[in-house]
Amino acid sequence: MTTAIVGVGNIGSAVARHLVAGGESVVLAAKDRSHAQALAEELGPLARATSVEDAIDGADAVVLAVWLDAIRELIPEYERLLKDKVVIDPSNPIGFDASGQVMRTLPDGESAGSVVAALLPAGAHYVKAFGTLGADALAANAHRDPLAVLFYATDDEAAAITIERLIRAAGFEPWKAGGVAAAGRIEAPAGDLHQYGLNGEVADIGRARSATAGSGA
Ligand SMILES: NC(=O)c1ccc[n+]([C@@H]2O[C@H](COP(=O)([O-])OP(=O)(O)OC[C@H]3O[C@@H](n4cnc5c(N)ncnc54)[C@H](OP(=O)(O)O)[C@@H]3O)[C@@H](O)[C@H]2O)c1
Repeated sequence: MTTAIVGVGNIGSAVARHLVAGGESVVLAAKDRSHAQALAEELGPLARATSVEDAIDGADAVVLAVWLDAIRELIPEYERLLKDKVVIDPSNPIGFDASGQVMRTLPDGESAGSVVAALLPAGAHYVKAFGTLGADALAANAHRDPLAVLFYATDDEAAAITIERLIRAAGFEPWKAGGVAAAGRIEAPAGDLHQYGLNGEVADIGRARSATAGSGA
């Protein structure tokens, strides 16, 4: 299996490092190809850098590790290539106001997950994942004992199987928060299951189980 990671910033580079450490093949792309190339060289033979188009085309799963505005542009551009792919979306509806304060960029009640899922072509397998911790915590908590949980949200069985495999390969415990309707629960700034909604806590499976008890997850 090959995973394309589009975006090699805070989240994309952490996901790439963890997956390669777990023995997964990754194909990296960024706006500036030299950024993807530099990371691929650091990660060694399981990683290579290419264009966004080639990365998506050659992958089974695609992590869209870019900001929501960029996702809104990338999906229409590469729609034909995304049809059979597992599409993994870590985005948060986050921006910054004039004074640098974090603000929500979508109306209350609307999740980035619902926006991204609705943009995808029929046949794409959507899952919200890899954005439930801050980037520093994601980078620092692989293979912790007890394992740290990464929540995911999907309505798609194939996407669930793939993301569970990738989360385990990355050194975390997967935990389903629910379907796409629950995506907002695992997004910052307001989601109750996002690290920020858990007062900074990096949940283990006991915490995840109690936090989702009764929600049908
Ligand atoms: N940072 C966090 O703590 C955190 C936590 C959870 C979720 N998230 C979410 O994760 C996503 C990525 O955040 P980040 O902090 O990793 O962002 P980032 O550090 O700013 O990195 C963004 C990456 O996207 C690439 N990019 C931008 N436009 C592109 C395009 N048109 N085609 C290909 N690549 C493009 C950039 O390429 P270049 O390298 O060439 O500039 C860069 O590598 C966001 O949706 C964010 O909400 C972030």
